[in-house]
Amino acid sequence: MDRIRLVGGNELNGEIPISGAKNAALPLMIASLLTDEPLVLVNVPRLADVKQLERILENHGVDIAVHGRRRGDTDMGGQRITFTASDIVDTTAPYELVSTMRASFWVIGPLLAREGNARVSLPGGCAIGTRPVDFYLDGLRQLSAEIDIDGGYVVARAPGGRLKGANVRFPKVSVGATHVVMMAATLAEGTTIIENAAREPEVSNLAECLVAMGAKITGIGTERLVIEGVDKLNGAIHEVLPDRIETGTYAMAAAMTGGNVLLRNARPDLLQSALDVLSRAGSDITSEEGGLRIRRNGNGILPVDVETDPFPGFPTDLQAQFMALMTRSNGVSAIKETIFENRFMHVAELARFGAKIHVDGQTAHVTGVPELKGAQVMATDLRASVSLVIAGLAAKGETVVNRIYHLDRGFERLEDKLSRCGAEIERIAG
Ligand code: EPZ
Repeated sequence: MDRIRLVGGNELNGEIPISGAKNAALPLMIASLLTDEPLVLVNVPRLADVKQLERILENHGVDIAVHGRRRGDTDMGGQRITFTASDIVDTTAPYELVSTMRASFWVIGPLLAREGNARVSLPGGCAIGTRPVDFYLDGLRQLSAEIDIDGGYVVARAPGGRLKGANVRFPKVSVGATHVVMMAATLAEGTTIIENAAREPEVSNLAECLVAMGAKITGIGTERLVIEGVDKLNGAIHEVLPDRIETGTYAMAAAMTGGNVLLRNARPDLLQSALDVLSRAGSDITSEEGGLRIRRNGNGILPVDVETDPFPGFPTDLQAQFMALMTRSNGVSAIKETIFENRFMHVAELARFGAKIHVDGQTAHVTGVPELKGAQVMATDLRASVSLVIAGLAAKGETVVNRIYHLDRGFERLEDKLSRCGAEIERIAG
């Protein structure tokens, strides 16, 4: 299994290109199941999760053609991929394919909407909480689906072959449930209103793609989406937005090491809350043509209290990285996780660097220390893994991050991007 070896202490200076967002690319790829015409996605990141979803879509009969690099500008450019689901050959998403990635469960929406039936294994994914699917199933039931759980599979059917529009109000904001019910509603008979919809940029990116495919959706970017069902969707060309979590991760890495980094293609409006927190923690952040520049402002790293929240709040997917940064602050910060109940798995690993963190319920109290020391570490989920890289970049001596397949799921060529900015970091194969 590959590992990452790094030696901390270097500032980061230079440019880091930000890739297309994993969490936008995945639902966009799934949307290709809604039409028999080609859906061309531009700026698709090269990630293990994208590859895995390609396998799942191919199993349903989607033809996939990769056309190379975006604009042909740099070797870090995203891929342009055409997905054509002329015929859905199988409406089952099997356990072997679905169990490693929660987002693959989302195929249930388009399959049910287009084919009138779907059989999808209950999902797996990062071990960050129980992560049930009750909102999805309740939402689909409201669109008239009949649903059973059989042998670990969700078996869903639309009576008469077509879903019916309905009013759906989610009890709590859910990105995935919003994606699924929105996709299902595009082909339903009549109008669907989704209330308490997720407002994450990835939801809007999907909604805009669906509109380009002929869907009728209003209220995009708000908590109330109105979807008027149509008989058929068409193909489209659509660009995956830049990854706000990758942006925030490298911004935190630069805040940790000091230096001066331009995050190329980054869009500040996608992560304003995190950038505000980083400014308060002692970084200068400026928007400029081509991206976002981050520098430490000479005050060291200041402690800031943070609470995760649905968009536009501070993202849970940046909580671990911010905690890594706070381990070197010159005070005490409180970090509260409100989205997932078990997303502090990185605390024990950060302690290996000498970090001082005390968890009390949903809140981690982080007391900054003057020095971290390199260590052997390992993480159980994607964002936690990268928090260990951030800690390692500032730690004295050598750090080895084990089990980096988690990183490869969501960070494109992390070690290349960081080493080009001066970090001493390499992948060790085997
Ligand atoms: C998406 O997961 C992201 N994944 C996650 O990123 C992200 O952390 C999360 O949204 C929150 O922003 C992708 O986009 C692929 P939710 P999702 O449904 O959709 C509860 C990463 O590292 N809930 O918004 O699965 C749930 O347990 C990943 O890239 C129910 O109770 O998250 C959680 O507490 C990790 N019942 C809360 O809602 C349901 O039916 C929000 O989860 C659905 C969700």
